[in-house]
Amino acid sequence: MQYLTEYREFYRQFRTRYQTTGSILPSSRALARALTRPLRNLPGPRRILEIGPGTGAVTAEIVRHLRPGDQFDIVEINGDFVAYLGQRFENEPDFRRHREQSRILHSPLQDVPGQAVYDIMISGLPLNNFSLSLVEDIYASYERLLKPTGTLSCFEYAWIRQMKSPFVGSAERDRLREITSYLQEKIRRYQIDEELVLLNVPPAVARHLRF
Ligand SMILES: C[S@@+](CC[C@H](N)C(=O)[O-])C[C@H]1O[C@@H](n2cnc3c(N)ncnc32)[C@H](O)[C@@H]1O
Repeated sequence: MQYLTEYREFYRQFRTRYQTTGSILPSSRALARALTRPLRNLPGPRRILEIGPGTGAVTAEIVRHLRPGDQFDIVEINGDFVAYLGQRFENEPDFRRHREQSRILHSPLQDVPGQAVYDIMISGLPLNNFSLSLVEDIYASYERLLKPTGTLSCFEYAWIRQMKSPFVGSAERDRLREITSYLQEKIRRYQIDEELVLLNVPPAVARHLRF
């Protein structure tokens, strides 16, 4: 039942706010497991930031691994998703148990204050939908907020830029080409691990980066 309501809400947001929502379906449990691997392996207490939780598919996995002393911040730009997630923290036992150590911020990531704050950041942002300048701003925020010893985990749909390119106009193809080369450079410099997750629609690559 929870899955059905979650899928319905996610699809509704996909239709009304395609640009920021970025996909039709929430992430699978397998992708959430891959994204939370560094979190599971890090001894506490930890400061954790989830970016773009949507309906909370990955949040549900994160709360399972919270320990006493951890502090969990969640930042989401879409007010409907903020309200939906707030309800989960009220109503679902796995979420409720961690209400006191969790905080939902209704804002874009770029407005989260601070420098070298987080040990773990887990991002669901659909960078392939954004302009290059927005992707640059988002990476500046990732690098500002993550501790030098911290890990950023994020994902993208496998082969998505290559698959999209032949079917779009030249302006869109240029945008995708710019984003591809920008992200490839970040991956080359900072990626410490990656995992292909086939059990997701569509299949995705989870990436772990350290700056
Ligand atoms: C592809 S969905 C991922 C949802 C969820 N993490 C999952 O994996 O199922 C992207 C999410 O990022 C949010 N978002 C987009 N731009 C954002 C920004 N600049 N700051 C914070 N959240 C943002 C969207 O509203 C949406 O919830």
